[in-house]
Amino acid sequence: MSRILDGKRVRDAILESLKPRIAALDETQRPPGLAVVLVGENPASEIYVRSKVKACQDLGIASEKHLPTADISTEEMLFLIQSLNQRPDIDGILVQLPLPAHIDETQVLLSIDPSKDVDAFHPYSVAALVANSPGFRPCTPAGIMRLLDHYQIPVAGKRAVVVGRSDIVGKPMALLLLHANATVTICHSKTADLASECRKADIVVAAMGRAGFLTQDFFNPEAVIIDVGINRLRDRPAVDRMFSSDVSKLTEFDKKGTVLVGDVHPAAFQNCAAFTPVPGGVGPLTIAMLMSNTVWAAEQRYGGQS
Ligand code: GUN
Repeated sequence: MSRILDGKRVRDAILESLKPRIAALDETQRPPGLAVVLVGENPASEIYVRSKVKACQDLGIASEKHLPTADISTEEMLFLIQSLNQRPDIDGILVQLPLPAHIDETQVLLSIDPSKDVDAFHPYSVAALVANSPGFRPCTPAGIMRLLDHYQIPVAGKRAVVVGRSDIVGKPMALLLLHANATVTICHSKTADLASECRKADIVVAAMGRAGFLTQDFFNPEAVIIDVGINRLRDRPAVDRMFSSDVSKLTEFDKKGTVLVGDVHPAAFQNCAAFTPVPGGVGPLTIAMLMSNTVWAAEQRYGGQS
């Protein structure tokens, strides 16, 4: 039987561990503060931002939303970020991506004070990650490392394959695994014989954003599969292809007209050592690590624990 790696359980453990740290900050200084900037109207981003603000409220982190309209200019965005940089009650600044095409995203992310860069997208944070020196770590890959640790899955000396080379997940994931002494291969859309690369792996992190693309033949039976993909299926034939033997998923589709699937074909989970389900695997960890980064930012500001 494959073991299920329950992201909600790990999320709860992460959040629980933050509570005394938040209480200590609240007692000696003030609660940590997070500013979230969401430009324009994007239903998916709105859901993410709502979840982030709710997580802050539940934990006692002060949060505020800034909701400029889609026609805001790069200069106005820079002005907003500068004002947040200067606020002593704000420890973390998060600009929800994607931004509208006319805004210079690189310039906006560069303008965030590195000491408030809780998303870890600033080149300063990227350099700290590459150098393995203290700094913010991108939330999703950092959450995956916490999950591996929680379930005592050995990393040192293991072969890890990361499929996907995005700046947000693939590249930082590979670096974190490398720093944990895994032997790491990064694969991508141009990799020759992706299946054979994946089959050699003890740990596969699937993060390329293609529904059910990694099928059963990509994995050896001892593999630990971490599925970062969150893909929404909306047509019945695709759902049938993914979930032909899973009555509960077919029923869910019939009820809602949509189901989620990761980058790994669900059949692959039947023949591996352990896997993260979609939903309920990697997803819950991202916000937990955002909370963790925000608390860390506040502690750094007040010279607390690191
Ligand atoms: N858009 C999708 N994921 C993320 C994330 O983790 N952070 C930000 N800022 N935007 C996103």
